Amino acid sequence: MRTLLVTGGAGFIGTNFVRQWVGSHPRDRVVVLDALTYAGNFANLTDLQGLPNFVFVQGNILDEKIVETLMLEYSVNVIIHFAAESHVDRSILGPDAFVQTNVVGTHALLKVAKTCWLDRGTGQPHRFHHVSTDEVYGSLGPEVPAFRETTSYAPNSPYAASKASSDHFVRAYQETYGLETSISNCSNNYGPYQFPEKLIPLCISNILDGKDLPIYGDGLQIRDWLFVEDHNQGIERILEDGRVGETYNIGGNNEWTNLDIVQHICALIDDRFRLDLDLACRFPLAPPATGKASDSLIKHVKDRAGHDRRYAVDTQKINHELDYSPRESFKTGMDKTLDWYLKNEIWWRALMDRDYQDWMETQYSES
Ligand code: NAD
Ligand code: TYD
Repeated sequence: MRTLLVTGGAGFIGTNFVRQWVGSHPRDRVVVLDALTYAGNFANLTDLQGLPNFVFVQGNILDEKIVETLMLEYSVNVIIHFAAESHVDRSILGPDAFVQTNVVGTHALLKVAKTCWLDRGTGQPHRFHHVSTDEVYGSLGPEVPAFRETTSYAPNSPYAASKASSDHFVRAYQETYGLETSISNCSNNYGPYQFPEKLIPLCISNILDGKDLPIYGDGLQIRDWLFVEDHNQGIERILEDGRVGETYNIGGNNEWTNLDIVQHICALIDDRFRLDLDLACRFPLAPPATGKASDSLIKHVKDRAGHDRRYAVDTQKINHELDYSPRESFKTGMDKTLDWYLKNEIWWRALMDRDYQDWMETQYSES
């Protein structure tokens, strides 16, 4: 039996990972450690509480004592490390938390893993999988080939710098101490349970509430979008058959400009309102409720400082070595995502009502 310690399991990707893993590996034990910061939501996992192999602990990865206790008490042999401060805009305003959680926190986890598995352990197989981002590679020009695993790191935001630093520590623990690690660098995720400060859920919830859709700068920045369950399937393939000490890129081969993504979401929502008349009653402030187009809400605002122009990842390594490719098309992934946000209004509205609403509003000053 495997026991997984999943850090950040109450956040967006972690929640989806835990829910997928519990469904597909019912004999494994899953221990979630999450500090429940503004981005973590225990409500995402409450229905799993009764399962015999599921444990949730509220705690900080910086707290080595808690991590060590969990490692020993549950005989953890796999760590999947999602916990992080993850929003670029917040990292620009307050980088300290990113250094603390992403760098110092990752190092604290590595130290405890080394103590438990190597210094005091019995030499049994183990794995420390670190979930990272394509943003560590920096920004690409329009015609430049996509990032490979061998591309030099060139992080531009404090978020990306903190993730790059944590990647280096993971590598160093493997090279220096022989800790069995792996790293995945993934492109932008979308899907259920994503906090509505990120572009796609922000646009969905803002349209439904008739609020502006803020486009940073010209909106021609390019991101590669991957459905969250496909990201997690990539992580699962790495855990099952990935080589120790290796890094794998995971991506969707699905590049869009921000402006096109926002227009696409507007068109999807306008279509939904045409097909389902009940939506106009539920969301009377949404433009299509009164016959207007959702893209009337688009507003260009001041650009993000140091805004990366384009991300794209070359996924040949994971495709060939682990026979992995995303299952979801962008159409099916976006349909599922929109269905989820329409069905789960209570979930995102509760988050929008928390105190960071004030913080978000300060971001959207007009250029
Ligand atoms: P998220 O912000 O939605 O969730 C982060 C989770 O970590 C939250 O539940 C939060 O409570 C928890 N957390 C934060 N600090 C903690 C601490 N000190 N101790 C314990 N728990 C803590 O993030 P996400 O979008 O789910 O991203 C998960 C991971 O995937 C991150 O490492 C991120 O860098 C990486 N990633 C994200 C994307 C993306 O598009 N969202 C893409 C590639 C990689
Ligand atoms: P985001 O979802 O924050 O992810 P990341 O910064 O990690 O790529 O942003 C995706 C893109 O959308 C990014 O280029 C910034 C842009 N963006 C906007 O134009 N307006 C917004 O309100 C947000 C949140 C993002």
